[in-house]
Amino acid sequence: MSKYVLVTGGAGYIGSHTVVSLSENGYIPLILDNFENANRSVLNGLHKILGFEPILLEGDVCDNDFLKSIFLSYEIHGVIHFAAYKAVGESVKEPLKYYKNNLLGLINILNNMIEFRIKNLVFSSSCTVYGEPKGIKEMIEETPKNSPNSPYGWTKWMSEQIIEDVIKANPSLNIAVLRYFNPVGAHKSVFIGEFPIGKPNNLMPYITQTAIGKQEKLIVFGNDYPTIDGTCVRDYIHVIDLAEAHVKAISFLESKSGVLEAINIGTGKGLSVLEIINAFTIETGVQINWEFGPKRKGDVTEIFANANKAKTILGWEAKLSINDAINDAWNWEKKLAATK
Ligand code: UD1
Repeated sequence: MSKYVLVTGGAGYIGSHTVVSLSENGYIPLILDNFENANRSVLNGLHKILGFEPILLEGDVCDNDFLKSIFLSYEIHGVIHFAAYKAVGESVKEPLKYYKNNLLGLINILNNMIEFRIKNLVFSSSCTVYGEPKGIKEMIEETPKNSPNSPYGWTKWMSEQIIEDVIKANPSLNIAVLRYFNPVGAHKSVFIGEFPIGKPNNLMPYITQTAIGKQEKLIVFGNDYPTIDGTCVRDYIHVIDLAEAHVKAISFLESKSGVLEAINIGTGKGLSVLEIINAFTIETGVQINWEFGPKRKGDVTEIFANANKAKTILGWEAKLSINDAINDAWNWEKKLAATK
C-alpha cells in the first residue's frame, strides 16, 4: 500500500528536509505549500537529492476546499503539519495574521482528518510553549506550559490546547506534538537548506550571512543574562536529525490507537550565543564581525531539552553535532552566494 504522507509546508526549511527523510524511509510525501515563505528552487534541490520530483499540491492550508480536494484525491496515511508563520517579531506587530493563519490551518487539518478518518498527525510545535523557564532550564515534557513571549508562541500553545481537546472528543486520533528547540544546519548535499526572506531573525543564518558579507554585523542581543557568559543559551538541533524525528513519529503513531504525546526534539545540551560564534570561527576559520547590543524583547534567558522521552518512545536521538550543523549551514551559505 502506498503510504502517502501529507506534508503541509513541505517546501519550507524543516518541511523539505522531512520530505527527504520520508522518501528515504518508504513513504510518499505530498508537499502542500503556497510558497509564501518558501523558495521554489527547493523543488529542484529535492529532485537532485531524491532523483525524482516529489508530488506538489500548491495551495493554502487555510483554503478548506483545496485541502478537502487533497483528502478526496489521495488515501492519506498520515499528516505532518508544518505550515505556519514563525517570525516572532512580526507576530508581535501583526498578531491577527498569526492567530488566523496558524490556528485556522490546524483546524482545517483536524476537521478533514476527522471527516476522512485519517488517524496519524505529527504537529510542529516549539519549546516556546514552556515560556521563560522558572528554576531548572532543562525542560521535560511534563514541565507545565507557561505564557509564551509572543503571539507566535501563543499560536503554538493554543494549537496544543486545540489538539488536546480534539483528541478527547475523537479518541481514535493519534497525535505526536513535537516541540522543537532551535533547528540549524542544512542537507549535506547543500541542495536544500534555509532561505530566510529578508534579514534573518534567527542566529545561525545571521552568522553565516555576516560571515559571507551579506550582513554587515551580527548584534548579540544582551550580555548580562545570568548564564555562563552573559548571553542566552539554547539547544541547537541539526535539521536532519529533526527531520528524522518526524519519520520516527509517523512510524510510532502507525502502531497506536488513540495516543497523544508531546515530545521534545533537541540535543539535551545548551549552548550560549558566544559559544556558537566561537564554534563557527573554529570550525570554518572565518571571523565574524559582531558586537553586543541591547537585549531582544521576548528572549528567554536559557532553555534546553531533556530529550529522554524521544529516545524512549520514538527510538530517536540527535546524532549530528553542532560542528556538523555549522559546516552544513556554512556550505549552504557559500553555495547560495555562488549561485546568485
Ligand atoms: C525562538 C523560539 C523558538 C521558535 C523560533 C522561531 C524560544 C525559546 N524559542 O527561537 O521556539 O521556533 O523563535 O523563529 O522562544 N540572537 C542574537 N542575534 C541575532 C539573532 C539571535 O544574539 O541576530 C540570539 C537570540 O537572542 C537568542 C539566540 O540567538 O538567544 C537564538 O535566537 P533565534 O535563532 O532567533 O531563536 P530563538 O529566539 O531561540
